[in-house]
Amino acid sequence: MIFINFKAYKEGFGKNALELAKIAEEVAERSGVYIAVAVNHLDLPVIAKSVRIDVFAQHIDAVEFGSYTGAVNAEMIKEYGAKGSLINHSERRLKLADIDFCVSKLKKLGMISIVCTNNVATTAAVSALKPDFVAVEPPELIGSGIAVSKAEPEVVERAVASAKKICKEVKVLCGAGITKREDYVRALELGADGVLLASGVVKAKDQKKALEELVGLS
Ligand code: G3P
Repeated sequence: MIFINFKAYKEGFGKNALELAKIAEEVAERSGVYIAVAVNHLDLPVIAKSVRIDVFAQHIDAVEFGSYTGAVNAEMIKEYGAKGSLINHSERRLKLADIDFCVSKLKKLGMISIVCTNNVATTAAVSALKPDFVAVEPPELIGSGIAVSKAEPEVVERAVASAKKICKEVKVLCGAGITKREDYVRALELGADGVLLASGVVKAKDQKKALEELVGLS
């Protein structure tokens, strides 16, 4: 499984986001690999309507409808076609109680939660909330091009073991610095169910080629 986080990269926003989501859809269908995208809230309605792959939000706020200026909640992204959301990304941290709120709310709405963590201990802690996915990403490797699955394989292995010990249904992703097929394959060998990545594809000179290489089509 490959989740591509478009972040707030210019190459993954607006018209560029729609083009990249279409590339992801085409590569997913041609390779048979599950590929999903996590896009900016502004792009979500259009992209969710335009592609057959799953589209996620990058963040939701732990609030109901109401007097919360600037907030985007789980109900809103559902209405616009999101499959689920990333929660607690290292660039958008939440309090534990807010993570719990978001996981529960997404579950109640029949949506998928992907909770990001920064190390083995937080992966174990968050697994107790029973999200659909935890995604362990050592912050210092994010955007570095140095793959977590190669630089810190023990983090991936221990995160998988501790997450499954707490909640055997939880799926585990790893991320940070994943750019090449060998990084992805290594992550799977270490027990991860998939990867969460951004710059390796979004910032690639040739996004389509980067994604094809990742899934083994080139
Ligand atoms: O959400 C994915 C992410 O934080 C990893 O980023 O650029 O290292 O693939 P990157």
